[in-house]
Amino acid sequence: MDGTSPISDKPLPRHIAVIMDGNGRWAHARGKPRTAGHRQGAEAVRRVVERVGELGVPYLTVFGFSAENWKRPASEIEDLMWLLRRYLQSEVAELHKNDVRFQVIGDRSRLTHDLQRLLADSEASTAGNGRLTFTLALNYGGRQDIVEAARRLAREVAAGTLDPEAIDAERFGGALSTAGMPDPDMLIRTSGEQRISNFLLWQCAYAEMVFLDKLWPDMGKDDVSRAVAEYQRRERRYGAAVGSR
Ligand code: IPE
Ligand code: IPE
Ligand code: MG
Repeated sequence: MDGTSPISDKPLPRHIAVIMDGNGRWAHARGKPRTAGHRQGAEAVRRVVERVGELGVPYLTVFGFSAENWKRPASEIEDLMWLLRRYLQSEVAELHKNDVRFQVIGDRSRLTHDLQRLLADSEASTAGNGRLTFTLALNYGGRQDIVEAARRLAREVAAGTLDPEAIDAERFGGALSTAGMPDPDMLIRTSGEQRISNFLLWQCAYAEMVFLDKLWPDMGKDDVSRAVAEYQRRERRYGAAVGSR
């Protein structure tokens, strides 16, 4: 990075969560089909993964397809799945070269078998990498994640292997799909929308929210650095009095 980097010596986030948004509007503004926006959006993912790795942030989780996105036209869903396949085919070798671990959260059972196989292969081939863990949330919903965790714990209780009184926030977090990862320190959403859209509901309890007016396909490496610099300027209090930490 050059001398113009906005990053300070304050702590970096350990985990950045991203809601990429605005692909459709980007395409619409150019008189193009929504797919064109998604295609450029995939390029933006590439840039963001790269910059997050360069900054030395160890966890990045990107919302790729929500449990609610099935409401979109079948043709758009097909395009998105096609792009995902192409992204994995062209990008996993590069991720591996850069010591990036790729993994998926969400209910993948609704994806096609060949895509499920490709996801599993991509996870397996990068499982030993340690510089950055890049998690893609597919057919993911925060509420579904919480419900699934409750079911998992309830099964243990029913089996007699878990005392209900032993369930605390840490135990519950360990039953979520993000078990083993630190909670996101910051959540970035592009396109000017200011909502969480059922992303990592439990995990973002104390995430710093950074909303950018840019549309996702316009997201550049410097935008990532600027968002991280914005995070560094925030005072995180976790309920304590101002200035007490
Ligand atoms: C984000 O862009 C990509 C996905 C949700 C997969 P959108 O497709 O939501 O773009 P807008 O919000 O319609 O502009
Ligand atoms: C959230 O974006 C889902 C993903 C980024 C994958 P949406 O565009 O689907 O969210 P809403 O509908 O505007 O809340
Ligand atoms: Mg959107």
